[in-house]
Amino acid sequence: YGTSSVNEAGHLEIGGVDTVKIVEEFGTPVYVYDVALIRERARGFKDTFAKRGIPAQVAYASKAFSTIAMVQLANEEGLSLDVVSGGELYTAIAAGFPMERIHFHGNNKSKEELLMAIEHNIGCIVVDNFYELTLLQELCEQKNSKMAILLRVTPGIEAHTHDYILTGQEDSKFGFGLQNGQAEEALLKAMDSPNLELLGLHCHIGSQIFETTGFVLAAKKIIETLHQWKQAHGYETKVLNLGGGFGIRYTNEDQPIQPSEYVEEIITEVEKNMKQFGMNMPEIWIEPGRSLVGDAGTTLYKIGSRKEVPDVRQYLAIDGGMTDNIRPALYDAKYEAVLANKPLMEAEETVSIAGKCCESGDMLIWNLPLPKANDQDILAVFCTGAYGYSMANNYNRIPKPPVVFVENKEAVLVVKRETYEDIVRLDLPLKEKATLKK
Ligand code: LLP
Repeated sequence: YGTSSVNEAGHLEIGGVDTVKIVEEFGTPVYVYDVALIRERARGFKDTFAKRGIPAQVAYASKAFSTIAMVQLANEEGLSLDVVSGGELYTAIAAGFPMERIHFHGNNKSKEELLMAIEHNIGCIVVDNFYELTLLQELCEQKNSKMAILLRVTPGIEAHTHDYILTGQEDSKFGFGLQNGQAEEALLKAMDSPNLELLGLHCHIGSQIFETTGFVLAAKKIIETLHQWKQAHGYETKVLNLGGGFGIRYTNEDQPIQPSEYVEEIITEVEKNMKQFGMNMPEIWIEPGRSLVGDAGTTLYKIGSRKEVPDVRQYLAIDGGMTDNIRPALYDAKYEAVLANKPLMEAEETVSIAGKCCESGDMLIWNLPLPKANDQDILAVFCTGAYGYSMANNYNRIPKPPVVFVENKEAVLVVKRETYEDIVRLDLPLKEKATLKK
């Protein structure tokens, strides 16, 4: 996994740092990120566009993992940034990220969030619905400013992925329908809005996608529509944003293709179709989240209790679970893991890894082959870099783990461990009644 290997002490090493040492210093659970791997993935996407001479933006979908250090790393790699809330935008502001490379997503951006975006003069807003189109025009007019926008459209493409995270089909809470005429109506409205500059169209067909077909079909459909719009309304697009969703390998069952392959096929399809209709090549933007950070993240846990159900199962419990990784409980997501302090030892038993939450569904991995594990052994769960920390929660009032970046044999703390004081920080005692402000 990534640049993980086994060192002379027989321990798992990430980015040249012994995971046992990381645990000694930072405790468990802890999220560890291999920074070199994130850089490699970012360059993989960017270089493919550069080699083909295609003007592009690779926007990191920060919902996958948003912290100040991560946003700064994205900036160092020349990525743009996709944010979907005031909180993610605030993180980008706090990180000093260049505002002109920020794209703001979301199906229900509040007035306050839109004003924040306008005041900070961000790169563009991806408008999701008619309500937002009207509100944004009004707010820009009030503020006497102009905002670049993309229209999010649903091209009606179904990507092969888990139902929960399928967003490209027409019956979706996101975007303007391409087939039902909504997108065209939005186009005309946007062209008519003096304070909005319509850069182009956006679509996102799903997540954890293993094939290029969906992207190719979506690009083709959108370009056909753009051709009609050019003829009917004289509209020519500057930007075509095809979203994120490139799949990664969590277990042997997953067979992803290289990031460059997705990009190559997308470029080829866009070029072919634009040429066929005699239209100018637009900039191509993409928004990878998982494929930039997913396999760069590893979570380290300490093993605690063991429960045997005779002749049925061995439950091994760890000091984390659905609070730091909700994906198994929410999506039935699968992971692979090893004992970080003895990764090469032969498997001797099959165990099921249980989280520590008061919920039977809090199971991290079923039927994992492991060497005989004792309490205090360290379990390393791979590929937890995307939607792990970002979806972490405080169920059972469990504090969130810290985040450590490793690079060049050095481990640096980039998010502190939450404390019990943090857990009660916003609580008010019963007696001091919170009074409503008049
Ligand atoms: N762009 C848009 C508009 C999106 O909605 C998403 C993800 C992305 C880009 C990035 O997709 P990625 O490259 O990371 O697949 N919590 C789920 C994933 C939800 C994805 C939501 N949108 C999970 O843990 O699998």
